[in-house]
Amino acid sequence: MKTIVHVIGARPNYMKIAPLMEAVKATGQLRQVLVNTGQHYDDMMARAFVRDLGLPTPDYDLGVGSASHAVQTARVMMEFEKICTAEKPDLVVVVGDVNSTMAASLVAAKLLIPVAHVEAGLRSGDRTMPEEINRLVTDRISDLLLAPSPDAVENLRAEGEPASKIHLVGNIMIDSLLRHLPSATLDRIKGVPVKAGHYAVLTLHRPSNVDTEDTFRRILDAVGTIANEMPVVFPVHPRTRQRLKEFGLDVSPGLLLTDPLGYIDFLSLTSHARIILTDSGGLQEESTALGIQCLTLRENTERPITVTEGTNQVVGTDTAVILAGFRRALAAEGTPRKPDLWDGATAGRITRILCDFLAR
Ligand code: UD1
Repeated sequence: MKTIVHVIGARPNYMKIAPLMEAVKATGQLRQVLVNTGQHYDDMMARAFVRDLGLPTPDYDLGVGSASHAVQTARVMMEFEKICTAEKPDLVVVVGDVNSTMAASLVAAKLLIPVAHVEAGLRSGDRTMPEEINRLVTDRISDLLLAPSPDAVENLRAEGEPASKIHLVGNIMIDSLLRHLPSATLDRIKGVPVKAGHYAVLTLHRPSNVDTEDTFRRILDAVGTIANEMPVVFPVHPRTRQRLKEFGLDVSPGLLLTDPLGYIDFLSLTSHARIILTDSGGLQEESTALGIQCLTLRENTERPITVTEGTNQVVGTDTAVILAGFRRALAAEGTPRKPDLWDGATAGRITRILCDFLAR
């Protein structure tokens, strides 16, 4: 039996690997090994997601933790090389664009183990984002480029990738979203007094937003104005919590701060919101899939399809521009189109491609 090693490490990875492992398991044809790098390690950033999503207990925990980019990447590489040498996998599957993704793909490629990249081809064109470097490197050395949308396919072609490597498979995160949506009821969120359809959700964690006091302050000013009109629920990422304290920033009383939430609790919150404000990549996609208006608090997006075929507006971090976007979002009418193949069946499509590849 051939062996696939799946790599998870940070919060946006778990919901991409869970449906894939389940679909591969259903074939009964492949042995699967799950490696958790430990890039994220707090219960609510890591283990809560593994539990919520029904992922198996990882076979290996590398325990790399937080560090500078070079140190974190190097630690994953050093530990992951040992696993690859011991397990001799026939394929390594990496997802998304975090440091663990790039680190694991580099190790596998140098050991001549084929790499499949789920979520290939997304580009913001902004190399100040560490994730953009991770995307470029991972795609360049991957053997199977599994793209979520036609724009991603176009990017890969424009960079010279051969058509034989590129597969348009759809968005695997939406598999997890559709599967868990029926459990995502608002009564799960204790201690946050909000009514369905009458509150906003805010998430912020990009270094470009929260590590610069001026930018963080401008965003909080806009959110403070929004909070005068509707409660804004703000689950706070650990990085963001540190910066709030360090800069001594005051938040408006209309902002309801919570600790990071698990997968289903967070889906409960977002799926009943009136509007979402975020600098996350995945949440732009989830709000499009849910048909909920989204303001992206960044200057660019690697997920332009959420603007052209979804509910997203890229508004940057200027207070007045964010508020203008908020007004437009509240006035938006009709149900926007959803991207093709964001249908809950992406894991099955990827599994067929992996099986074909390994049968060659
Ligand atoms: C990482 C990813 C980013 C992803 C985000 C999701 C990279 C380059 N960045 O950014 O793409 O969108 O995860 O959350 O891979 N911390 C904790 N507990 C944890 C994890 C982190 O307290 O479980 C704190 C640490 O102080 C750490 C800081 O948060 O230094 C930032 O964590 P890190 O993993 O370096 O980057 P993220 O901002 O989470």
